[in-house]
Amino acid sequence: METVTAIDTYLDRFTAEMAVPENLREAVRYALLGGGKRLRPILAWYAAQAVGGPGEISLPAGAAVELVHAFSLVHDDLPAMDDDDLRRGRPTLHRHTSEAMAILAGDAMLNLAFQLLCEKVADPRLGRDLMSELAVGTTGMIAGQIYDTLGGFPAGLEGRGRLELIHVNKTGALIRASCRMGAMCALADLGVSAEEASRRLALITQYGDAVGLMFQIVDDVLDVTQTTEHLGKKSNKDIDAGKLTYPGVLGLDASQRAISDLLARAEAAVATFGAAGQHLANLARFLAVRTK
Ligand code: IPE
Ligand code: IPE
Ligand code: MG
Ligand code: MG
Ligand code: MG
Repeated sequence: METVTAIDTYLDRFTAEMAVPENLREAVRYALLGGGKRLRPILAWYAAQAVGGPGEISLPAGAAVELVHAFSLVHDDLPAMDDDDLRRGRPTLHRHTSEAMAILAGDAMLNLAFQLLCEKVADPRLGRDLMSELAVGTTGMIAGQIYDTLGGFPAGLEGRGRLELIHVNKTGALIRASCRMGAMCALADLGVSAEEASRRLALITQYGDAVGLMFQIVDDVLDVTQTTEHLGKKSNKDIDAGKLTYPGVLGLDASQRAISDLLARAEAAVATFGAAGQHLANLARFLAVRTK
Protein backbone atom coordinates (compact mmCIF):
# COMPACT_ATOMS: atom_id res chain seq x y z
CA MET A 1 0.00 0.00 0.00
CA GLU A 2 1.46 3.27 -1.18
CA THR A 3 0.54 5.34 1.89
CA VAL A 4 2.12 2.92 4.36
CA THR A 5 5.28 2.64 2.24
CA ALA A 6 5.67 6.43 2.18
CA ILE A 7 5.22 6.59 5.96
CA ASP A 8 7.66 3.74 6.63
CA THR A 9 10.25 5.27 4.30
CA TYR A 10 9.93 8.63 6.06
CA LEU A 11 10.36 7.07 9.52
CA ASP A 12 13.22 4.90 8.30
CA ARG A 13 15.12 7.92 6.90
CA PHE A 14 14.51 10.11 9.92
CA THR A 15 15.76 7.49 12.38
CA ALA A 16 18.72 6.56 10.14
CA GLU A 17 19.90 10.18 10.20
CA MET A 18 19.22 11.19 13.82
CA ALA A 19 22.31 12.03 15.89
CA VAL A 20 22.17 9.51 18.77
CA PRO A 21 24.35 6.64 20.04
CA GLU A 22 24.06 3.50 17.90
CA ASN A 23 22.52 1.37 20.66
CA LEU A 24 19.79 3.98 21.15
CA ARG A 25 19.20 4.18 17.38
CA GLU A 26 18.76 0.39 17.28
CA ALA A 27 16.31 0.48 20.21
CA VAL A 28 14.25 3.29 18.68
CA ARG A 29 14.15 1.56 15.29
CA TYR A 30 13.19 -1.76 16.93
CA ALA A 31 10.21 -0.12 18.65
CA LEU A 32 9.19 2.13 15.76
CA LEU A 33 9.73 0.09 12.60
CA GLY A 34 8.82 -3.46 11.64
CA GLY A 35 5.23 -4.14 12.68
CA GLY A 36 2.48 -1.77 13.69
CA LYS A 37 -0.50 -0.73 11.63
CA ARG A 38 0.65 2.91 11.23
CA LEU A 39 -2.92 3.90 11.90
CA ARG A 40 -2.09 7.38 13.19
CA PRO A 41 -0.02 8.55 10.19
CA ILE A 42 -2.63 6.98 7.89
CA LEU A 43 -5.35 9.01 9.64
CA ALA A 44 -3.24 12.17 9.22
CA TRP A 45 -2.79 11.37 5.51
CA TYR A 46 -6.50 10.74 4.89
CA ALA A 47 -7.51 13.80 6.95
CA ALA A 48 -5.25 15.96 4.76
CA GLN A 49 -6.99 14.53 1.69
CA ALA A 50 -10.46 14.98 3.18
CA VAL A 51 -9.99 18.73 3.67
CA GLY A 52 -8.72 19.11 0.11
CA GLY A 53 -4.94 18.64 0.18
CA PRO A 54 -2.49 15.97 -0.93
CA GLY A 55 -1.86 13.15 1.57
CA GLU A 56 1.95 13.49 1.45
CA ILE A 57 1.78 16.93 3.02
CA SER A 58 0.88 15.21 6.32
CA LEU A 59 4.07 13.12 6.52
CA PRO A 60 5.97 15.16 9.18
CA ALA A 61 2.80 15.34 11.31
CA GLY A 62 2.02 11.64 10.94
CA ALA A 63 5.61 10.62 11.65
CA ALA A 64 5.71 12.79 14.78
CA VAL A 65 2.52 11.22 16.14
CA GLU A 66 3.82 7.72 15.36
CA LEU A 67 6.97 8.49 17.39
CA VAL A 68 4.83 9.52 20.38
CA HIS A 69 2.62 6.44 19.89
CA ALA A 70 5.66 4.13 19.82
CA PHE A 71 6.98 5.81 22.99
CA SER A 72 3.60 5.25 24.67
CA LEU A 73 3.66 1.54 23.80
CA VAL A 74 7.24 1.01 25.04
CA HIS A 75 6.41 2.59 28.40
CA ASP A 76 2.95 0.93 28.54
CA ASP A 77 4.67 -2.48 28.33
CA LEU A 78 7.22 -1.83 31.12
CA PRO A 79 7.03 -3.96 34.30
CA ALA A 80 5.84 -0.94 36.30
CA MET A 81 2.96 -0.46 33.85
CA ASP A 82 1.25 -3.38 32.04
CA ASP A 83 4.28 -5.70 32.35
CA ASP A 84 4.04 -7.25 28.88
CA ASP A 85 6.58 -9.46 27.12
CA LEU A 86 5.11 -9.44 23.61
CA ARG A 87 4.38 -6.51 21.24
CA ARG A 88 3.76 -6.61 17.50
CA GLY A 89 4.59 -10.32 17.55
CA ARG A 90 8.06 -9.80 19.05
CA PRO A 91 9.60 -9.38 22.51
CA THR A 92 8.81 -5.96 23.99
CA LEU A 93 11.72 -3.52 23.90
CA HIS A 94 12.63 -3.98 27.57
CA ARG A 95 12.75 -7.77 27.00
CA HIS A 96 14.78 -7.35 23.82
CA THR A 97 17.24 -4.89 25.45
CA SER A 98 16.87 -3.74 29.06
CA GLU A 99 14.48 -1.69 31.18
CA ALA A 100 16.92 1.20 31.27
CA MET A 101 17.13 1.23 27.47
CA ALA A 102 13.34 0.98 27.11
CA ILE A 103 12.81 3.94 29.45
CA LEU A 104 15.42 6.03 27.63
CA ALA A 105 14.30 5.01 24.13
CA GLY A 106 10.76 6.04 25.11
CA ASP A 107 12.06 9.39 26.38
CA ALA A 108 14.01 9.79 23.14
CA MET A 109 11.01 9.08 20.88
CA LEU A 110 8.87 11.62 22.72
CA ASN A 111 11.56 14.23 22.25
CA LEU A 112 12.37 13.22 18.67
CA ALA A 113 8.73 13.79 17.71
CA PHE A 114 9.05 17.47 18.54
CA GLN A 115 12.57 17.67 17.07
CA LEU A 116 11.18 16.30 13.81
CA LEU A 117 8.46 18.97 13.69
CA CYS A 118 11.07 21.68 14.42
CA GLU A 119 13.33 20.46 11.64
CA LYS A 120 10.87 19.40 8.94
CA VAL A 121 8.04 21.95 9.03
CA ALA A 122 9.18 25.09 7.20
CA ASP A 123 6.18 27.34 7.95
CA PRO A 124 6.81 28.63 11.52
CA ARG A 125 3.14 29.20 12.28
CA LEU A 126 2.13 25.71 11.13
CA GLY A 127 5.09 24.26 13.06
CA ARG A 128 3.94 25.94 16.27
CA ASP A 129 0.32 24.83 15.78
CA LEU A 130 1.39 21.21 15.14
CA MET A 131 3.63 21.17 18.21
CA SER A 132 0.84 22.60 20.34
CA GLU A 133 -1.59 19.99 19.02
CA LEU A 134 0.84 17.13 19.63
CA ALA A 135 1.68 18.41 23.11
CA VAL A 136 -2.03 18.51 24.05
CA GLY A 137 -2.57 15.01 22.63
CA THR A 138 0.44 13.61 24.49
CA THR A 139 -0.62 15.16 27.80
CA GLY A 140 -4.08 13.65 27.23
CA MET A 141 -2.54 10.22 26.58
CA ILE A 142 -0.51 10.45 29.80
CA ALA A 143 -3.58 11.57 31.76
CA GLY A 144 -5.42 8.54 30.36
CA GLN A 145 -2.60 6.22 31.40
CA ILE A 146 -2.82 7.71 34.90
CA TYR A 147 -6.57 7.02 35.14
CA ASP A 148 -6.04 3.54 33.66
CA THR A 149 -3.18 2.61 35.97
CA LEU A 150 -3.41 4.74 39.11
CA GLY A 151 -6.97 6.11 39.26
CA GLY A 152 -7.52 9.65 40.51
CA PHE A 153 -10.93 10.14 38.90
CA PRO A 154 -12.92 13.34 39.51
CA ALA A 155 -15.29 13.06 42.48
CA GLY A 156 -18.70 11.62 41.60
CA LEU A 157 -17.59 10.02 38.34
CA GLU A 158 -18.50 6.30 38.24
CA GLY A 159 -19.01 3.39 35.84
CA ARG A 160 -19.34 4.37 32.21
CA GLY A 161 -18.14 7.92 32.90
CA ARG A 162 -14.82 6.57 34.21
CA LEU A 163 -14.47 4.24 31.26
CA GLU A 164 -15.02 7.05 28.81
CA LEU A 165 -12.59 9.34 30.60
CA ILE A 166 -9.86 6.68 30.44
CA HIS A 167 -10.41 5.79 26.80
CA VAL A 168 -10.98 9.28 25.41
CA ASN A 169 -7.65 10.26 26.92
CA LYS A 170 -5.32 7.27 26.75
CA THR A 171 -6.11 6.46 23.12
CA GLY A 172 -8.52 9.12 21.84
CA ALA A 173 -6.24 12.10 22.45
CA LEU A 174 -3.48 10.97 20.06
CA ILE A 175 -5.97 9.81 17.43
CA ARG A 176 -7.74 13.17 17.58
CA ALA A 177 -4.32 14.88 17.26
CA SER A 178 -3.40 12.68 14.26
CA CYS A 179 -6.54 13.68 12.38
CA ARG A 180 -6.31 17.37 13.26
CA MET A 181 -2.58 17.63 12.52
CA GLY A 182 -2.99 16.02 9.09
CA ALA A 183 -5.84 18.39 8.28
CA MET A 184 -3.87 21.40 9.57
CA CYS A 185 -0.93 20.58 7.26
CA ALA A 186 -3.25 20.66 4.25
CA LEU A 187 -5.31 23.67 5.34
CA ALA A 188 -2.20 25.81 5.87
CA ASP A 189 -1.46 25.39 2.17
CA LEU A 190 -4.93 25.66 0.63
CA GLY A 191 -5.73 29.36 0.75
CA VAL A 192 -9.34 28.92 1.93
CA SER A 193 -10.86 31.49 4.31
CA ALA A 194 -10.26 31.14 8.07
CA GLU A 195 -13.97 30.37 8.54
CA GLU A 196 -13.93 27.61 5.95
CA ALA A 197 -10.71 26.15 7.40
CA SER A 198 -12.19 26.02 10.90
CA ARG A 199 -15.42 24.46 9.58
CA ARG A 200 -13.44 21.66 7.93
CA LEU A 201 -11.19 21.20 10.98
CA ALA A 202 -14.26 20.93 13.25
CA LEU A 203 -15.65 18.06 11.13
CA ILE A 204 -12.28 16.29 11.20
CA THR A 205 -12.21 16.74 14.98
CA GLN A 206 -15.66 15.15 15.35
CA TYR A 207 -14.46 12.23 13.25
CA GLY A 208 -11.22 11.88 15.27
CA ASP A 209 -13.07 11.94 18.60
CA ALA A 210 -15.51 9.23 17.49
CA VAL A 211 -12.81 7.00 15.98
CA GLY A 212 -10.46 7.54 18.95
CA LEU A 213 -12.96 6.25 21.52
CA MET A 214 -14.14 3.50 19.16
CA PHE A 215 -10.56 2.33 18.62
CA GLN A 216 -9.95 1.65 22.32
CA ILE A 217 -13.33 -0.08 22.78
CA VAL A 218 -12.37 -2.41 19.90
CA ASP A 219 -8.94 -2.94 21.54
CA ASP A 220 -10.74 -3.98 24.77
CA VAL A 221 -13.06 -6.32 22.83
CA LEU A 222 -10.12 -7.93 20.99
CA ASP A 223 -8.39 -8.56 24.33
CA VAL A 224 -11.24 -10.93 25.26
CA THR A 225 -12.10 -12.36 21.82
CA GLN A 226 -8.74 -12.97 20.08
CA THR A 227 -5.69 -15.12 20.79
CA THR A 228 -2.23 -13.91 21.74
CA GLU A 229 -0.85 -15.39 18.49
CA HIS A 230 -3.34 -13.49 16.33
CA LEU A 231 -2.93 -10.17 18.14
CA GLY A 232 0.87 -10.32 18.50
CA LYS A 233 0.39 -9.11 22.09
CA LYS A 234 -0.92 -10.95 25.13
CA SER A 235 -4.71 -11.40 25.11
CA ASN A 236 -7.07 -12.00 28.03
CA LYS A 237 -5.07 -9.94 30.42
CA ASP A 238 -7.15 -6.80 31.05
CA ILE A 239 -9.53 -8.44 33.53
CA ASP A 240 -6.74 -10.20 35.46
CA ALA A 241 -4.90 -6.87 35.62
CA GLY A 242 -8.02 -5.23 37.08
CA LYS A 243 -8.45 -2.82 34.14
CA LEU A 244 -11.69 -0.94 33.56
CA THR A 245 -12.71 -2.06 30.06
CA TYR A 246 -15.91 -1.78 28.00
CA PRO A 247 -16.56 -5.55 27.83
CA GLY A 248 -15.61 -5.89 31.52
CA VAL A 249 -18.01 -3.16 32.71
CA LEU A 250 -20.79 -3.19 30.08
CA GLY A 251 -20.48 -6.64 28.48
CA LEU A 252 -19.76 -7.55 24.85
CA ASP A 253 -23.20 -6.67 23.41
CA ALA A 254 -23.22 -3.15 24.84
CA SER A 255 -19.61 -2.73 23.70
CA GLN A 256 -20.62 -3.66 20.15
CA ARG A 257 -23.50 -1.18 20.30
CA ALA A 258 -21.12 1.56 21.43
CA ILE A 259 -18.81 0.70 18.52
CA SER A 260 -21.70 0.91 16.02
CA ASP A 261 -22.88 4.26 17.42
CA LEU A 262 -19.38 5.74 17.23
CA LEU A 263 -18.89 4.43 13.70
CA ALA A 264 -22.13 6.14 12.64
CA ARG A 265 -20.91 9.39 14.23
CA ALA A 266 -17.57 9.15 12.42
CA GLU A 267 -19.26 8.47 9.05
CA ALA A 268 -21.69 11.35 9.50
CA ALA A 269 -18.87 13.78 10.34
CA VAL A 270 -17.01 13.19 7.07
CA ALA A 271 -20.04 12.65 4.78
CA THR A 272 -20.06 16.32 3.70
CA PHE A 273 -16.51 15.97 2.32
CA GLY A 274 -17.97 13.70 -0.37
CA ALA A 275 -15.42 11.71 -2.38
CA ALA A 276 -12.49 13.42 -0.58
CA GLY A 277 -13.69 11.94 2.73
CA GLN A 278 -14.18 8.40 1.42
CA HIS A 279 -10.81 7.12 2.69
CA LEU A 280 -11.61 8.33 6.22
CA ALA A 281 -15.10 6.78 6.09
CA ASN A 282 -13.76 3.46 4.81
CA LEU A 283 -10.99 3.43 7.42
CA ALA A 284 -13.53 3.95 10.23
CA ARG A 285 -15.58 1.01 8.90
CA PHE A 286 -12.46 -1.16 8.82
CA LEU A 287 -11.44 -0.12 12.34
CA ALA A 288 -14.88 -1.10 13.69
CA VAL A 289 -14.48 -4.69 12.48
CA ARG A 290 -10.70 -5.18 12.65
CA THR A 291 -9.50 -8.33 14.40
CA LYS A 292 -5.97 -7.16 15.32
C1 IPE B 1 -2.29 -0.19 20.46
O1 IPE B 1 -2.38 0.66 19.36
C2 IPE B 1 -2.46 0.58 21.71
C3 IPE B 1 -3.72 1.28 21.81
C4 IPE B 1 -3.77 2.58 21.87
C5 IPE B 1 -4.96 0.55 21.87
P1 IPE B 1 -2.35 0.07 17.89
O2 IPE B 1 -3.33 -1.08 17.79
O3 IPE B 1 -2.51 1.17 16.91
O4 IPE B 1 -0.88 -0.55 17.81
P2 IPE B 1 0.09 -0.78 16.58
O5 IPE B 1 0.79 0.53 16.34
O6 IPE B 1 -0.71 -1.22 15.39
O7 IPE B 1 1.03 -1.85 17.07
C1 IPE C 1 -2.74 1.47 25.60
O1 IPE C 1 -3.79 0.82 26.15
C2 IPE C 1 -2.83 2.92 25.66
C3 IPE C 1 -1.53 3.59 25.48
C4 IPE C 1 -1.44 4.84 25.72
C5 IPE C 1 -0.33 2.88 25.05
P1 IPE C 1 -3.56 -0.76 26.34
O2 IPE C 1 -2.66 -1.02 27.48
O3 IPE C 1 -4.90 -1.41 26.33
O4 IPE C 1 -2.82 -1.12 24.97
P2 IPE C 1 -2.28 -2.57 24.60
O5 IPE C 1 -3.49 -3.48 24.65
O6 IPE C 1 -1.22 -2.92 25.59
O7 IPE C 1 -1.76 -2.41 23.19
MG1 MG D 1 -2.08 -0.10 29.23
MG1 MG E 1 -1.00 -2.45 27.53
MG1 MG F 1 -5.38 -3.25 25.30
